[in-house]
Amino acid sequence: MQIIRDVKTLRQTLFSLRSGGKRIALVPTMGALHAGHMSLVRAAKRHADHIVASIFVNPTQFGPNEDLAAYPRQEAQDAAMLEAEGVAILWAPTLNEMYPDGFATTISVSGVSEGLCGGARPGHFDGVATVVTKLLNQAQPDIALFGEKDYQQLAVIRRFVKDLDMPVEIVGVPTARAPDGLALSSRNAYLSDDDRAHAPLLNEAMRDAAQAMVSGMTPALAIAGIRTRLEASGFGPVDYIELRDADSLEPVEQLTHPARLLVAARLGSTRLIDNITVKTGG
Ligand code: PAJ
Repeated sequence: MQIIRDVKTLRQTLFSLRSGGKRIALVPTMGALHAGHMSLVRAAKRHADHIVASIFVNPTQFGPNEDLAAYPRQEAQDAAMLEAEGVAILWAPTLNEMYPDGFATTISVSGVSEGLCGGARPGHFDGVATVVTKLLNQAQPDIALFGEKDYQQLAVIRRFVKDLDMPVEIVGVPTARAPDGLALSSRNAYLSDDDRAHAPLLNEAMRDAAQAMVSGMTPALAIAGIRTRLEASGFGPVDYIELRDADSLEPVEQLTHPARLLVAARLGSTRLIDNITVKTGG
């Protein structure tokens, strides 16, 4: 596996990897890789001949109160994991390569970026959309894979790729979970033992609510049920519990189209997010 830090070398290397019509997949990450990230790499193998994984801790998607400096950085360990899965290139640009002096462009996606995590993290999705646009332009992959774990992020990316006629296929990969249902996340490492024991309740309450809605309970009542269960079992402030259209992320009041149930809640000092599909009955 080649570790590359500048766009010129990336382009040259990809030019030869592409010869003979080989397909390239891009898996963008911020590093600190876990089994969730690796499920994207494994899915990429099914779609392409060569995989480029990127690691770039993108400062522009962190808010002023989010600790960019504390974000885990463990490139050697990450590189070993990627190499073991047969990744061809680790694209790990420097800060200056990504945002040279004078950088002045922002990609901003209205609608899907608003509310949910966009409400609690103003500017976050502008940072994501801008860096992902750059990563796609740098590697020019045939396909790029993103986790459903960050469902709003996936919807934002699908939106600007379509709006900007970007020639890439976006693939969403189902959330990888611990056996008890907790969605894998680098943030889970910050949970105390006690909080880790309570954390699976998030997914359990969501699944029960989804089932209840499919059986006819109103979304408002099912959502209230999740809130009560979370608050009764040690979760702190709930940022949001919402039912949205699975594609447009428009709010949904009745279950007539395929929908997505999305929740963000604090447990101790850790903010957990999760989302699941809610299929219409029949
Ligand atoms: P990061 O948080 O490192 O996540 C990289 C990719 O891994 C994202 O597509 C995310 O949805 C996916 N992922 C994380 N946990 C997962 C899980 N349990 N199951 C499946 N996929 C999972 O998301 C980002 O980085 C950044 O915003 C990025 C897109 C790289 C732009 O900077």
